[in-house]
Amino acid sequence: MSSLRVLVGCKRVIDYAVKIRVNSSKTAVETAGVKHSMNPFDEIAVEEAVRMKEKLGKRISEVVAVSCGTSKCQETLRTALAMGADRAIHVDVKDEANLEPLAVAKMLKAIVEKEKIDVVIVGKQAIDNDSNQTGQMLAGLLDWPQATFVSKVEIKDDNNIVVDREIDGGLETIGFKAPAVISTDLRLNEPRYASLPNIMKAKKKPLVKTTPEELSVDIKPRLQILEITEPAKRSGGKIVESVDELLNKLKNDAGVL
Ligand SMILES: *[C@@H]1O[C@H](CO)[C@@H](O)[C@H](O)[C@H]1NC(C)=O
Ligand SMILES: *[C@@H]1O[C@H](CO)[C@@H](O)[C@H](O)[C@H]1NC(C)=O
Repeated sequence: MSSLRVLVGCKRVIDYAVKIRVNSSKTAVETAGVKHSMNPFDEIAVEEAVRMKEKLGKRISEVVAVSCGTSKCQETLRTALAMGADRAIHVDVKDEANLEPLAVAKMLKAIVEKEKIDVVIVGKQAIDNDSNQTGQMLAGLLDWPQATFVSKVEIKDDNNIVVDREIDGGLETIGFKAPAVISTDLRLNEPRYASLPNIMKAKKKPLVKTTPEELSVDIKPRLQILEITEPAKRSGGKIVESVDELLNKLKNDAGVL
């Protein structure tokens, strides 16, 4: 039986703990001088791929990490390598702010074909724009089966893959054959922290750079952003002493009863 080569997507995003600010011209959020890290759902993707390798040994031939964006993405890729990915590919995109999911999906498709990838694992969405599109678009472009919002993955002896998906009503279990695209949900695993020795080792792992042109992908934006605004401020809450007081407030102050 043939071994599986796994690709993981690693987007560099504003760190989840940063309080996001819209810039003064309302065209984008402030990114200058702001802490960035790997998209948390992509960390889960890397963790899952590395666990597959640890569990299945030679049946996983390689874990390849990919990131599209400015040269800063190489830091994100080094994190993936320190977590256990074998090698990394950086797609150098200067105008990162206007990089759309469709363009990323097309570049990933080109890499999947060039590198003979069997399983792609990506985060279900990136926490910056919350698009929830790249994995689905990639599966569509490749005409591969896809399993989105996955909270459990099992690779069977015959390379059939069985997953649990998080859906509105609970969990759905589906099976399919590689090649396939999987997108991760929060409960799939808890990503490890890279240890210092592994961070040192990661510096020696191969990281190559390519470009959208080399991949023959046109990344011209298809969307036009009209305005970016802050969400409306929440008005302060109140703590009530009793059910009666709550009912009174709902009736007389909020007017919802
Ligand atoms: C995605 O979010 C970043 C901020 O983190 C922003 O600069 C960029 O314009 C957004 N991209 C799209 C295509 O919406
Ligand atoms: C994500 O996209 C799928 C379609 O591919 C949609 O069914 C689902 O509701 C979306 N989920 C979120 C959280 O936006």
